[in-house]
Amino acid sequence: MKEMRTLPKDFIMGGATAAYQAEGATKLDGKGLVAWDTWLEEKGRYTAEPASDFYHQYPVDLKLCRKFKIDSLRMSIAWSRIFPNGYGEVNQAGVDYYHRVFAECKKQGVIPFVTIHHFDTPKTLFDNGDFLNRENVEHFVNYAKFCFEEFKEVHYWSTFNEIYPVATNQYLTGIFPPEIKFDLKKVVTCLHNMMWAHARAVNIFKEGNYSGEIGVVHSLEPKYPYSQAKEDIHAAAKDDALSIAFLLDATYKGRYSDKTMALVNEILAANDTQVEFAESDFIAMEKAATQTDFLGINNYQSHWVQHYDKESAIGFNGTGEKGTSFYRIKGIGERIQRDDIPKNDWDWAIYPEGLYDLLVRIKADYPNYGKIYITENGLGFKDNFNDGVIMDEPRIEYLRGNFNSISKAIDAGVDVKGYFIWSLMDVFSWANGYNKRYGLFYVDFETQKRYPKESAYWYKFVSENKVII
Ligand code: NOJ
Repeated sequence: MKEMRTLPKDFIMGGATAAYQAEGATKLDGKGLVAWDTWLEEKGRYTAEPASDFYHQYPVDLKLCRKFKIDSLRMSIAWSRIFPNGYGEVNQAGVDYYHRVFAECKKQGVIPFVTIHHFDTPKTLFDNGDFLNRENVEHFVNYAKFCFEEFKEVHYWSTFNEIYPVATNQYLTGIFPPEIKFDLKKVVTCLHNMMWAHARAVNIFKEGNYSGEIGVVHSLEPKYPYSQAKEDIHAAAKDDALSIAFLLDATYKGRYSDKTMALVNEILAANDTQVEFAESDFIAMEKAATQTDFLGINNYQSHWVQHYDKESAIGFNGTGEKGTSFYRIKGIGERIQRDDIPKNDWDWAIYPEGLYDLLVRIKADYPNYGKIYITENGLGFKDNFNDGVIMDEPRIEYLRGNFNSISKAIDAGVDVKGYFIWSLMDVFSWANGYNKRYGLFYVDFETQKRYPKESAYWYKFVSENKVII
């Protein structure tokens, strides 16, 4: 019999959510609007209402955490519940709500792992340029400081969730509002301004001597050349530079290495543009590079990149119709769907080796990474609800592969401290709406009843025994 891999005894097993995807109650108790509210209403397909109604169901979800040995809940604070306009007057009802959630976490023995910003900039600031506008960086930093001062019951803070997808979904693929496409100047500006904002928040956290730990959550999806042709190797290097190295350099070196910048500049030049950074931004960033306690990694898939030099073009598979997506970016390359690698219904390649490669690469390239939490990983799947029984073997298989990669990486000396499945329960999935389910717990969005899927029992076993079955 094959020997089963194990995880460290103190390995944290968590479940991940985000405010806008779980809470619902988008206009309740003084909450301000976010761009998504009006954008979704205009599209008329679905809204984030009531999502998983976490706003009211949190005691139920936290009880489930306790029952299924889920040590920690990754969640985010909705900026516009605290500051409905992004800054200025505080909405006390919003503040009180999060105190209630944290108190319930404590009661159920679940550690809150809190993100300050997860795709939900208040609409007033979003309409004013979001993170392209440096005034909004000031507002974000003030909001982060408010959270540190107010929510002393939180130990783990992440400044941002997925800076790269924010920048690219908003300004490259255009699948998020404001639906701008192929504007590489905006992409790089947004990435940089958010990394600067992250750094400033980290500086404040450390200078304020708040107790706890702070990090950032990056979406990191390994890039491989599609063939060994020189041009493909170079295309993969460019895709990697913009989507991975740019962020990790900023996080752990406090500036962009010459190698990363040369590749990013090549991408910008191919798109007839360029970006300048204010040298003074690097003061905060270099300081934060030594202050960051952990790296959160969101990883779902890997990409194979081929040389491409024509006009940019995107095919977005938002409905789970296999084989409908394509991604070709001028100056970067084309991400190719490999026939020999399994994919989920949304064309995401299932390749657990990618997570292993990523983890050992971070240890090698950024030896000061501190420690790592896998803050998201999971399988989007059209779960079949059969009288309350949900057999999600493909999800278990996916998790098993990724957990084995993590265990191997730990053996190779990478300090991975914990794992958060995306998602704890089924939630609202942005541009994918509601048919893409990720949860350990099935949510009937009509009744808001929760049902444990087969994977929830598997997860409980792994959490209790630290053996990957
Ligand atoms: C990453 C994001 O953080 C989360 O909001 C999203 O729903 C999942 N990936 C799945 O796409």
